[in-house]
Amino acid sequence: MCQRLNQMKNPLNVLPEINFPLFLAPMVGLTHLALRRTVRRYMPENTQTLFPTEMLSTKRIPAQAVGRTPETFRDPEELDLNVQILGNEEKYVVPSLKKLEIYGARAVDLNMGCPVKQALRHNYGVSLMGDPNYAKEIVAMAVANTKLPVSVKIRAGLTKDEDALLRFVEGLKEAGASWVCLHPRLAEQKRRGNADWSQIKNLKKNFSLPLIGNGDVQIVDDIHAMFDQTGCDGVMIGRALTARPWLLWQYGEDKGLPAPVAFKGQKAPRTGEEEACAYGEMLIHFMKDCQEIFEAKDAFKRVLFFVNVSHSWLNFGHPMMLQIKKQKSVAEMIPVVEQFFSKSGLSMTKTTDLRY
Ligand SMILES: Cc1cc2nc3c(=O)[nH]c(=O)nc-3n(C[C@H](O)[C@H](O)[C@H](O)COP(=O)(O)O)c2cc1C
Repeated sequence: MCQRLNQMKNPLNVLPEINFPLFLAPMVGLTHLALRRTVRRYMPENTQTLFPTEMLSTKRIPAQAVGRTPETFRDPEELDLNVQILGNEEKYVVPSLKKLEIYGARAVDLNMGCPVKQALRHNYGVSLMGDPNYAKEIVAMAVANTKLPVSVKIRAGLTKDEDALLRFVEGLKEAGASWVCLHPRLAEQKRRGNADWSQIKNLKKNFSLPLIGNGDVQIVDDIHAMFDQTGCDGVMIGRALTARPWLLWQYGEDKGLPAPVAFKGQKAPRTGEEEACAYGEMLIHFMKDCQEIFEAKDAFKRVLFFVNVSHSWLNFGHPMMLQIKKQKSVAEMIPVVEQFFSKSGLSMTKTTDLRY
């Protein structure tokens, strides 16, 4: 075992196998099996973290063939899934948990950050942050009904009030949550404005459960900066991992960890040109995985969404998107993308306006 791996602190003490502190963020329409396969390819050799599913509604799970729906497709070796669920009612949450245990989840994540109207109307997602006692009851109910660790993903709240935020997470801890992930934007911000990392720092200072920080990481320097500035135990990355899944490799390399198995003996891409080349290779892999995993129409929809989110880091993103959008299937897209990436002068930008 690499000496450096032994030196890495386990960010989540309840899961002894975790030895890498970076996490893919759950994203509807994106964190399906194909994206997980993509991101996994860039994990330094012998590292282990948790991977999210797409958010699943507890109103639907009990009647669903979990494992046979596109959102729940998984590879048999995926024994590291933190399944994110949305819901609040015991009659749905409890049978959902039972099904997820059978499915093979490693942990369950309660979504208390979703700001969409429907979540607000039904009093789940971020609206639970306005009702700390109820949120606590839901965590306690989940913990009492599963042997899996229960984590909670939250936002900064409905209004900016850091004392209230601390009281809120203390309630989650008392109810038995194993760790918390904070995306420090207010509910009303949705994904606008900036994530306020000072709130991660303040919470970490005063809170004893493992805390994962999340929001606006775009390059590997941001990962180091979030750890340094906030003292968080882990960093969760969403949008940027659709464009730069090798952030995991870059971070590992900076920490002296081995290259990913698929890239043994190689250095992580670092320059804009190297990253553009890596993006082309990664996108083709991703498209082929989508073709293999999903029905044709579904694969097409998922590839389009993925490119929509990731292309804004590419200096050639817009023309590439236009060409991809003209195609009618993933099979048609693949040669177009291959042709596109055979050109020279392609590059990736360090940062972009995070539109999504
Ligand atoms: C397309 C999309 C879908 C998302 N879906 C979810 C979700 O289902 N559950 C959740 O907790 N957060 C969701 N998020 C929020 C992300 O998990 C993350 O908190 C947010 O994007 C900030 O991280 P980032 O700046 O690294 O992307 C979503 C974000 C995006 C862009």
